[in-house]
Amino acid sequence: MKTIFSGVQPTGIITLGNYIGAFRQFTELQHEQQCLFCIVDQHAITIQQDPTSLANAIRSLAALYVATGIDPEKAVLFIQSEVPAHAQAGWMMQCISYIGELERMTQFKDKSDGKEGVSSALLTYPPLMAADILLYNTDIVPVGDDQKQHVELTRDLAERFNKRYGEVLTVPEIRIPKNGARIKSLQEPLKKMSKSDPNKKGTITLLDTPKEIEKKIKSAVTDSDGVVKYDVENKPGVSNLLTIESALSGVSIEDLVAKYDGLGYGAFKAGVAETVINHLKPIQDKYYELLESPTLDDILDKGAEKAHAIASVTLGKMEAAMGLGRRR
Ligand code: TYM
Repeated sequence: MKTIFSGVQPTGIITLGNYIGAFRQFTELQHEQQCLFCIVDQHAITIQQDPTSLANAIRSLAALYVATGIDPEKAVLFIQSEVPAHAQAGWMMQCISYIGELERMTQFKDKSDGKEGVSSALLTYPPLMAADILLYNTDIVPVGDDQKQHVELTRDLAERFNKRYGEVLTVPEIRIPKNGARIKSLQEPLKKMSKSDPNKKGTITLLDTPKEIEKKIKSAVTDSDGVVKYDVENKPGVSNLLTIESALSGVSIEDLVAKYDGLGYGAFKAGVAETVINHLKPIQDKYYELLESPTLDDILDKGAEKAHAIASVTLGKMEAAMGLGRRR
């Protein structure tokens, strides 16, 4: 059995991009592997957050993990800040990271570009992510395409640690979905769909109402030739909508293109919207049922306990290898 670890930031409601790129992989993997899924609230505070909104977003994300199909009997679901080993191992990972390699991370460049008062934690975000992964002897990290560089750095840091201090850490592999590794904004189909996009018309969240979904898909940017065809380079908007419908329905892109042949964009968009609405309905129903229920606290309490039991063993080995604390 392999160990799977992944994390999601509680910064706004998760999008169809998060769902297709990450959550779908989580629910698929949990049946056969040992899975741990984390709400990475310490990563969220690398950018200033309103405390009440952050607390709400953490609970909302926990409910969405379960509503999208994570079975707490099979997978461990927990909050990063409730397992202190993450911050401790994160510091150790920072100590073996080079400023140059952190400055080369494209997400750091994007998030800091042109901004004043950028927190030092935005730069040291990837070593904390490496700690998240490495604490659990993770074999596989299921993520969307945008996290590839961070997982590659994690591999480099694990190898560097092992070379300097002895074989303690497992070097993980990345897992990216074949279909939907990078879902694009509905308004700017060259950019990824993102929770933090200020243009809400470009993003479908898992909690959007059917009306909102219909409206957003109806106004999605396409092109003027009116032909439903998959061609990422010349028709990025149409291709993105086809990817979304295919990922949610399980129907191949080829079959979808045949289904919409000669129908025009009006019918195409209505069809995509219907698929999205029908797919999200049961997730939303379960979400609202769970949100205020004590079940969610039980799941998170047990998750933190299980995660702590595994993480503290690895942390102890890392500290001993580095020579921290007293010799036993
Ligand atoms: P985050 O919270 O930005 O995104 C969560 C997951 O969703 C994927 N994703 C997408 N996939 C396809 N299309 C998109 N438009 C799209 N947008 C986001 C992301 O790739 C990710 O898998 N740094 C991470 C959180 C993290 C983490 C970890 C992940 C912290 N520690 C350890 C894995 C392992 C992040 O900001 O994800």
